Amino acid sequence: MGSSRWWRKMATGLSALLLCLRFCFGRGGFPFIHQSTAAPMVSYYDYIIVGGGTAGCPLAATLSQTYSVLVLERGGSPFRNPNITHLSRFGAALSDLSPKSPSQRFVSEDGVINARARVLGGGTSLNAGFYTRAGSPYIAKAGWDAKLVNESYRWVEKVVAFQPPLRQWQSAVRNSLLEIGIRPYNGYTLDHLYGTKVGGTIFDGYGRRHTSAHLLRYANPSGITVFLHAPVQKILFTTEGKPRPTADGVIFTDASGLNHWAYLRRGPNSEVIVCSGALGSPQLLMLSGLGPKRHLQAHNISVVLDQPLVGQGMSDNPMNAVFVPSPRPVEVSLIQVVGITHNGSYIEGASGENFGTDQTQSTRDFGMFSPKIGQFSTLPPKQRTQKALDRAIQAMRFLPRSAFVGGFILEKIMGPLSRGHLQLRTKNPNDNPAVTFNYFKDRGDLERCVQGIKMIEKVIESRSFSRFRYNYLPISSLLNMTANAPVNMLPKHANASRSLEQFCRDTVMTIWHYHGGCHVGKVVDRDYKVIGVDALRVIDGSTFDYSPGTNPQATVMMLGRYMGVKMLRERYAKNETYS
Ligand SMILES: Cc1cc2nc3c(=O)[nH]c(=O)nc-3n(C[C@H](O)[C@H](O)[C@H](O)COP(=O)(O)OP(=O)(O)OC[C@H]3O[C@@H](n4cnc5c(N)ncnc54)[C@H](O)[C@@H]3O)c2cc1C
Ligand SMILES: *[C@@H]1O[C@H](CO)[C@@H](O)[C@H](O)[C@H]1NC(C)=O
Ligand SMILES: *[C@@H]1O[C@H](CO)[C@@H](O)[C@H](O)[C@H]1NC(C)=O
Ligand SMILES: *[C@@H]1O[C@H](CO)[C@@H](O)[C@H](O)[C@H]1NC(C)=O
Ligand SMILES: *[C@@H]1O[C@H](CO)[C@@H](O)[C@H](O)[C@H]1NC(C)=O
Ligand SMILES: *[C@@H]1O[C@H](CO)[C@@H](O)[C@H](O)[C@H]1NC(C)=O
Ligand SMILES: *[C@@H]1O[C@H](CO)[C@@H](O)[C@H](O)[C@H]1NC(C)=O
Ligand SMILES: *[C@@H]1O[C@H](CO)[C@@H](O)[C@H](O)[C@H]1NC(C)=O
Repeated sequence: MGSSRWWRKMATGLSALLLCLRFCFGRGGFPFIHQSTAAPMVSYYDYIIVGGGTAGCPLAATLSQTYSVLVLERGGSPFRNPNITHLSRFGAALSDLSPKSPSQRFVSEDGVINARARVLGGGTSLNAGFYTRAGSPYIAKAGWDAKLVNESYRWVEKVVAFQPPLRQWQSAVRNSLLEIGIRPYNGYTLDHLYGTKVGGTIFDGYGRRHTSAHLLRYANPSGITVFLHAPVQKILFTTEGKPRPTADGVIFTDASGLNHWAYLRRGPNSEVIVCSGALGSPQLLMLSGLGPKRHLQAHNISVVLDQPLVGQGMSDNPMNAVFVPSPRPVEVSLIQVVGITHNGSYIEGASGENFGTDQTQSTRDFGMFSPKIGQFSTLPPKQRTQKALDRAIQAMRFLPRSAFVGGFILEKIMGPLSRGHLQLRTKNPNDNPAVTFNYFKDRGDLERCVQGIKMIEKVIESRSFSRFRYNYLPISSLLNMTANAPVNMLPKHANASRSLEQFCRDTVMTIWHYHGGCHVGKVVDRDYKVIGVDALRVIDGSTFDYSPGTNPQATVMMLGRYMGVKMLRERYAKNETYS
């Protein structure tokens, strides 16, 4: 009797311990994820991946099948953080401005408030979840092997892609897109096709987020080590006995401020692979001595390679949106439906009054368009100061509940064509670099935006959407202001509601699809190898000069898997013996 109770206690204790091992340390069941303070001072690997983000995780999981792989991620774990794991908390991480936040806010030189990931899983741990592939022409132009691309997408989708439940408001958006002629209807599909469709999402039926870090379940546990809170300071190069600079390791810092050295194992195929994202990758190359010589010298960085194109070609797809107050309740939804037009804009929608934890006044919110997360279109970009932002957040507290009932119809333009650049501000890799996107500098972008706004007007005026708008509010007043809400509209220029061009410029926001800085053909070659040095690649959104599909995350994850498989195949083909 006593002993059986003892056993039961032991068994309960043991299973609690096992559960805890799985979740308490935020490892999501992955025993190979550790805090950087546990890292050895010096260690050796076949591959060192800088950044456990959208591309870094699938790449690491793949290479670990055969080789020893180290992943160094500057942020923490996504697995036990409710701000990350649940759809209803979208916005919580983005509005958390503490140094520990999984999201690091930055403001581009253009004046648009933006965010970058600082967490395992990268952008997939923060984003709105919409999952959709790149179109076939995009894949052909990139020179990718279409068969392997499809296999890689499927590999990713098995773990992270789900069909969203389509409710009333999103259905109305879908019907009105069809009504205004964005046809055919392609139903639920992950493919990028002209017409109207329902896309995938990385949130499952319970609203739980599945990130690129979940792809680590494919990893070979004995081939992979992941360190969290491990910002890489610089990539190390050797020239000894080499024809040109060759990457041979990195220096990273642990959470207590101590430096650690990770080196590549000897052998012709070991590599450092930078997957630090569109801001992080060009920044880290520069900090490591690869970049425009004069700029590096101005920061006292010793030049490894004068490469003027590092940090060039930064782009962010501008997003403009119109809030449409609704006379009836609407569901909480992030993007589910998209209209893919022939004139360079994509029309999407998001609805719902609240993405907070409870229903109290103070957490009432505009979700993807809340000033709390930095979305702030009631003032033109350069006037979006912290003070003005704080005022908008305050004002939101005094709005009646009815002001939050409704949804946003947004348009994002493809491309874009406009390009900017990135420069270091400091030598600290934790600091944001200075980035300029030059929204609408190219007239083509402005024209696409104007077309997009015209389509939005048509959607709002469509019969299919009529249940979700007040009849007495004409478009001109919608564009001008809405129920005093601190969301879009109220443009500063008096001519804005008459000139859609001015409206586009005044109300521009980001949809966080920024990319570039290490373009293919400029900084890396078609195999993503950094031009001019050896044993170094960049694989992530910084290599894109055009954003893939309507939304990039599917293609960034695909690329991580795709390149991992390609690298393994190349090494098998060489028939080398390893160990
Ligand atoms: C709020 C938000 C909403 C979005 N919504 C969608 C959406 O609905 N659908 C969609 O398809 N896309 C969406 N996106 C875009 C998409 O998530 C990103 O384009 C994509 O995740 C970028 O992937 P990446 O690998 O290039 O960079 P990231 O995923 O950002 O990966 C870079 C990683 O490197 C780490 N890192 C950087 N520097 C260092 C260093 N020095 N040392 C160590 N680690 C470092 C970072 O912490 C990060 O984890 C959204 C993005 C955001 C932010
Ligand atoms: C979640 O976000 C809120 C507000 O954005 C913040 O106060 C809180 O500390 C965050 N929680 C975690 C676990 O990061
Ligand atoms: C890849 O998949 C797309 C649809 O998702 C299809 O149109 C295309 O033909 C496929 N390509 C190959 C080479 O299988
Ligand atoms: C670069 O080094 C010089 C001399 O050591 C110093 O005077 C200067 O302030 C440094 N500049 C920067 C940007 O660190
Ligand atoms: C934009 O594209 C849509 C459908 O793709 C079409 O109905 C509309 O007429 C186009 N607008 C212009 C101005 O070409
Ligand atoms: C926009 O709103 C302002 C202030 O509320 C008003 O003065 C102006 O006439 C409005 N413009 C249009 C075009 O409705
Ligand atoms: C609108 O007004 C602003 C200044 O108030 C001006 O700079 C801009 O050129 C005007 N735009 C148009 C299209 O007239
Ligand atoms: C690979 O190596 C094996 C023996 O190690 C050899 O028999 C085979 O011919 C090699 N294949 C190629 C393609 O070199």
